[in-house]
Order: sequence, then structure tokens, then C-alpha cells
Amino acid sequence: MRRAARAGGLPPAWGLALAWALILARAQALENGLARTPPMGWLAWERFRCNIDCEADPQNCISEKLFFDMADRLAEDGWRELGYKYINIDDCWSAKQRDGAGQLVPDPKRFPRGIKALADYVHSRGLKLGIYGDLGTLTCGGYPGTTVDCVEQDAQTFAQWGVDMLKLDGCYSSEEEQAEGYPKMAKALNATGRPIVYSCSWPAYQGGLPPKVNYTLLAEICNLWRNYGDIEDSWDSVLSIVDWFSAHQDVLQPAAGPGHWNDPDMLIIGNFGLSYEQSRSQMALWTVMAAPLLMSTDLRTISPSAKEILQNRLMIQINQDPLGIQGRRIVKEKFHVEVFLRPLSQAASALIFFSRRTDMPFRYTTSLAKLNFPDNTVYEVQDVYSGKIISGLKTGDNFTVVINPSGVVMWYLYPMVQPWCLVRQQGPGGGVHPLIL
Ligand SMILES: *[C@@H]1O[C@H](CO)[C@@H](O)[C@H](O)[C@H]1NC(C)=O
Ligand SMILES: *[C@@H]1O[C@H](CO)[C@@H](O)[C@H](O)[C@H]1NC(C)=O
Ligand SMILES: *[C@@H]1O[C@H](CO)[C@@H](O)[C@H](O)[C@H]1NC(C)=O
Repeated sequence: MRRAARAGGLPPAWGLALAWALILARAQALENGLARTPPMGWLAWERFRCNIDCEADPQNCISEKLFFDMADRLAEDGWRELGYKYINIDDCWSAKQRDGAGQLVPDPKRFPRGIKALADYVHSRGLKLGIYGDLGTLTCGGYPGTTVDCVEQDAQTFAQWGVDMLKLDGCYSSEEEQAEGYPKMAKALNATGRPIVYSCSWPAYQGGLPPKVNYTLLAEICNLWRNYGDIEDSWDSVLSIVDWFSAHQDVLQPAAGPGHWNDPDMLIIGNFGLSYEQSRSQMALWTVMAAPLLMSTDLRTISPSAKEILQNRLMIQINQDPLGIQGRRIVKEKFHVEVFLRPLSQAASALIFFSRRTDMPFRYTTSLAKLNFPDNTVYEVQDVYSGKIISGLKTGDNFTVVINPSGVVMWYLYPMVQPWCLVRQQGPGGGVHPLIL
């Protein structure tokens, strides 16, 4: 029965991995050598927005203090060593007017030492600085934008300040201006000679899908791009993003690879909208989507449990896998359980068992065979959150995972040396009892 069911289905996981790798090898990509794995760091927007009231709220307003503080936390609390290196400014950092020479300038009250001094400090702490611009007459928050004519000048300004990453938003510009401006900024950044990771919001303004969005072109000019709307501090928002990315994975998944990534937006773990289980789910799902891991939370006050989720070493290793293959949703059960798979280097893979149920922990029974893993293989499995190891899981073995409501069970698994004679002696599917994991 299993064989018959598989014949019309997907090829085995390894075949898929190889096919995806070949597609990636042929795709042209932005050749600035940056973001070979998804960028990791911190981005101000979701948590701190456009709060510019430094008199009422000096701790949390968009000011140099916020970025100096976060740089210290990234450097001192174990984040930097795990790869969280970018500290990224978002909207509302600049003065309301350009200066006499037409140059963008930071708000003098909120950034009295200027962006260059902030970049120098960030670099001295072994970190990198990102900044925000907007291709248009104004930024989304109403600050001076970068019209097509200003692209080269602003690229020069950012490079002179020592900026390492640019997020270029797309408020207040036409489709034509975006089609001209986004590639122009790629050229302008390159012409500065400074390596600057380039994050494009362009596709999010075009609905995120072909024919309007050309993912081949995006991969040639941008290191990452926002495909879809902004994340908000809620589980509904996380689900809407996961739904959209899964529904369109046939278009989106092949577009990602080393140097060029889909960006489902920031991690909101550590804020107010997600439960513990939901936080673990966002981290797992973003990791398997090969998403940039840009936290937007207050690192000065983050809880130990949120920090533990964000600092899970095996999770980060999976997110940063050098093959850079984005995962896919491979199962969508009628009873609101989904399975996601990401192929990894050295024949390993990551699996997520995700429950959207809202009743109670759900016992989900399946087998690697049902998930199209190759026959007659024996796996070593590590549970990414509990660390528990299961040795000797055969493709045909039924197993049961217990998935909490709006939670995940996440596995890292790789084939053990194949004991062919054992498989022959016991016959296929030799396991008797389902393993309870
Ligand atoms: C500019 O582009 C060239 C050719 O793609 C590349 O080799 C070089 O590394 C790029 N330089 C920067 C600073 O991005
Ligand atoms: C998409 O962009 C690529 C690279 O610039 C180009 O070769 C291709 O013709 C474009 N595709 C469409 C449908 O416009
Ligand atoms: C696994 O479960 C299926 C029913 O879902 C059953 O047909 C099959 O025999 C089981 N396999 C093993 C090895 O127990």
C-alpha cells in the first residue's frame, strides 16, 4: 500500500535535495559574497516602531541610546558568538529634512553623535550595523525618502558612515520607480566598494508573486527581500505569514539560496503576543524556511525562556546550514497537523511536526516512509528542543510525536551507517511497537 501511495507522490527526500541543489547551482545570484547563510541579528521595528518621544520614554525611543544598549547586549549576552551580528536601525532615525548638501542626516537630538560614531562603536564590539531607507519621496513613517535621483548619493552616505546592511522600503513610490530604483541601488551599493547586505522590500509592494515579481531578477540584485506584509505582535500574524509562505512555496522555495533569501519578517519571540509554545513554533518554522533570524525584542529585559529558544545552538546550526535550501510544508492533515521538511548538508534533514489545534497535546503517528524518506535506512534523531536522542529509527517504523496546541516537535535527523544485513534479517518495517517520542 505504501509503495503504491508513494509512486505518484514526491521523490524521496534525497532526490528532492539533489534536484533543489542543482536548480540553485544554475541560478544566477547577487555576487557580493554576502549573506551566504541567512543574516542574523536584531532589528528595531516590530518592538520599537516609530517611538520618537525621548522625553516621555527615553529607554525605548528610537535614539542612539537604544542601539548602543542593544549592541552591548548582543556583545555581552552570548548572542554575537551564536551569529546574531547585525544590529539594524529601522524607520524614523533621520531628521525631517536633508541638509544643505542634500545629504540624509540623523535626527540631531536623538542621534547626537551621528551614525558614523554608532557604526564605529558597533564594529568595536564585533558587530555590524544596518540602516533603513525608503525608495520613494518619503519613508513609511514620513521621513525623507530616497527618490531614484538620490539613490547614488544615499548609497555613498551609508558607505561613508560604515553601514553594513541596508533595508530599502518602498512606501511613496510608483511601480515604475521601484522597477528602476531597486536595481539602481544594487549597482550604487556595489559602486561604493563597501560590502553592504541589501534587503529589498520591493516584492512586498508588488503582491509577492509572479508575474509582477521576478524572483530571478531579485536574486540577482538583493541579498534578501520581504515578500509579504509586516509581522505584528500576535500569533494570528505569525500564522498568516506561515499560511502565505506555504501556499506559495512552489514559487518562493526555489528562489532562496546562499546570498539570496526570502524574508518572512522579524522574530517576535520575547514580546507580548506569543505563548511559550507559539514562540518555539515561530523559531522552528523560520529556521526551516531558511529565514533571516532578525529578532525584534528588548534584549535588556528578555525572559530566560525566550532567550533559550533564540539561543538554541542546534536550531541555529540548522538555520545556517551551508546548502541554504529552504524547506517546504510536505504534509497538511485535515486534523490541523502539518509537517515541514528542510534538507540539510551531509544528508541530514530537519522535520517539524506542527499542530494548529487548540484542544490538547495531540498524538501524531506517522513514519519516515510516509514522509517519503528513502527505504531501508536507519536514522539517528535528535529532538531540537529537548535534546533527546533516538538511535536506530528505521524508515518503516511507525512513531508517535506528542505535539502541544500551537506547538511543534522539531527533529534533526541523519542516516546512520546502513546495517543492510539487519534490515534483510528483520524484513522491511521490522519495528513492532510505535516509538513514543
Ligand atoms: C561588486 O560586484 C562585483 C561583480 O559582481 C563583485 O565581484 C564585487 O564583490 C562587488 N563588490 C561589492 C562591494 O559589493
Ligand atoms: C526575469 O529576470 C531575468 C533576469 O534579469 C530575465 O532574464 C527574465 O527575462 C525575467 N523574466 C521575466 C518573465 O520578465
Ligand atoms: C504502521 O501503521 C500502519 C497503519 O497506520 C500499519 O498498516 C503498519 O503495519 C504499521 N507498520 C509497522 C511496522 O508496525
